[in-house]
Parts: sequence; C-alpha cells; structure tokens
Amino acid sequence: MRRLTKVRPYRERVAIMKGQMDGHYQNSMASLQRQGGDTAKRARLRENARSAGKVFLVGAGPGNPDLLTLRALRVLLEADVIVYDRLASAEIVALGRAEAERVYAGKERDHHCMPQSDISRLLVALARQNKKVVRLKGGDPFIFGRGGEEAQVLAEHGIDFEIVPGVTAACGVAAFAGIPLTHRDYAHSCVFVAGHLKDGSMNLDWQALCRPNQTLVVYMGLLGLPVLCRELAAHGMPTSTPAAMVQQGSTPGQRVVVGTIACLPQRVAVAGLVPPALTIVGEVVRLREQLAWFDGHETDVTLYASL
Ligand SMILES: C[S@@+](CC[C@H](N)C(=O)[O-])C[C@H]1O[C@@H](n2cnc3c(N)ncnc32)[C@H](O)[C@@H]1O
Repeated sequence: MRRLTKVRPYRERVAIMKGQMDGHYQNSMASLQRQGGDTAKRARLRENARSAGKVFLVGAGPGNPDLLTLRALRVLLEADVIVYDRLASAEIVALGRAEAERVYAGKERDHHCMPQSDISRLLVALARQNKKVVRLKGGDPFIFGRGGEEAQVLAEHGIDFEIVPGVTAACGVAAFAGIPLTHRDYAHSCVFVAGHLKDGSMNLDWQALCRPNQTLVVYMGLLGLPVLCRELAAHGMPTSTPAAMVQQGSTPGQRVVVGTIACLPQRVAVAGLVPPALTIVGEVVRLREQLAWFDGHETDVTLYASL
C-alpha cells in the first residue's frame, strides 16, 4: 500500500529546516571548541572577516530575474555597491538595496564604458573601503565573462572574493527557446565557442566544430554569423544542418530565427536581430518545433522586490 506523506505548510517546513541547520551549527561550534576553544584571537579574526571588504563575482543569468540563484539574490540584497554589466538586466540590478551604490561598467561592442583594467582597479579600491561589492555579470562569470581575469586581480591584491555561478546563456537561452542542447537521438556532446570576428575572420578549430552528433553554441556571434556558416560548410558540415539564432533569450524581448547553416544568415539579416544573440547549430534545433514553450511573458519580481 502507498504511504501518504503529510505535506507540511511552507512556513513549518522552513522552521524545521532552520532547526536542522541550527543543529549543524551547534555541532560545528562544539567541535571547534573541542579543538582548542573559541579564543579571543579567533573571535577577532572572525570580526575582521565580517567587517573587511569583499567582492562577489556574481552571475546574473541571461536576463530573466527568475534565473538568478538564491546565493546571487542573497548577496545582492546585502551589497553596498553593485558594479554591473550591460547584460545584467535592469530588473536584477534593481533588486539590490535602494541605498546601495550602483556603478555601470557595461560593455557594448566597441563602446567599452570602462576599460577592463579600470573595472578591476575599481573593485580593489571599493573592497579596500571595507565595502561589500557585487560585481554583477550576465550569465556565468567564468564563461566568456572575464570573471577569471577579475578574480586574478583580486587574488593578486589579497582581496577576499567569492564566485557566485550563474545560468550561462547557452543553458538559459536554449531552455527558453525549447532547444535541448543534448539529446540521446541527436547530440552527445556540446561545444561553447566565442564567435567574434578579428580582422573579418574567425579563428576556430573548424574540424572539431563540424563533428557529427554535436551541438555547437556560439556566443557573441551575431556579426560573424555569415562567416561562421560559410566556414562550417567549407569544413564539411552539411548545409542542411539546422541552426537557430536567439535574441534576448529568456526575456520579453526574445526572438528566435530558425533555418539551416545555408539560410540562417540571410533570415537573421531580414529579421533584424540585435544583440545579445546566441547561435545554436545542430540537429537538436529541430526539436524546437515540438518543444517551444516560452511566450515572452514578463517576470513578476514583486516577491523578490519585497524581500
Ligand atoms: C560577453 S558574453 C557573456 C556570456 C555570459 N558570461 C554567459 O555566461 O552567458 C555575451 C554573449 O552572451 C550571449 N548572451 C548573453 N545573454 C543572452 C541572452 N539573453 N540571449 C541571447 N544571447 C545571450 C550573447 O551571445 C552575447 O553576445
């Protein structure tokens, strides 16, 4: 016979979880004391750690506030300063405290608002003023986000930092476009590449990108789309391979153009897609016809905004 489990009200479940967490905390403290006592020095160190500045390199996801992680929301709500990129959506930046200082460090193609070296220097300076700094980036900070470089500068200057991962565009945008990046019948691997042009060409390992049963996801590839499709075909990818470009995925501005590597550049040009846009190439694109689900609705953030 199936046992029926009593579903407890939400508040009760939270209280139980908190009790369990407190239990873990008390156990840890007891073990700490067993290991030599909670000395004044240790308390002072803890106090320093609490008051010293710290930088959180936070991934904001592809733009939809519902795709923020709980950790990202928590640090946003505690930040003294939010240094944000163009790709971090306004709704997300607005979730920080009203008193938090907001600094726009956004980058647009060829219009860098603040050079990368200045952004890193700013983060160091703010942390040295004992501020809790959220460096808010689109997607995930460690995927085409220069989070690695910023973390290196912080480490070199002895600044305390934390990396808060985010939903990278490949995952978030593909999900909202109804395109599974892998599927047992179509793709067993998935490759992420940056598709920006350098001197009108794209320096990629074309042989590796043309492997069958693989999905290719191209970041920053709007301008270079004709070059991408031409090179893929020249390196042996069948011109009938399905491909899609998704503009502003996961947000009300989402638009999806589908075709093949032969016709996608032309279709995208006619549709007039604008950045940010992501290209997905591979047989999995066919599944969108069956799996498209997102109707571009607005996300209601009143719940988060009231926290
Ligand atoms: C500098 S990269 C940053 C990537 C980011 N760190 C991530 O993990 O998603 C910017 C590129 O990400 C892609 N991108 C980010 N958000 C997107 C969105 N909502 N819709 C489509 N593409 C997006 C675009 O290809 C854009 O040019």
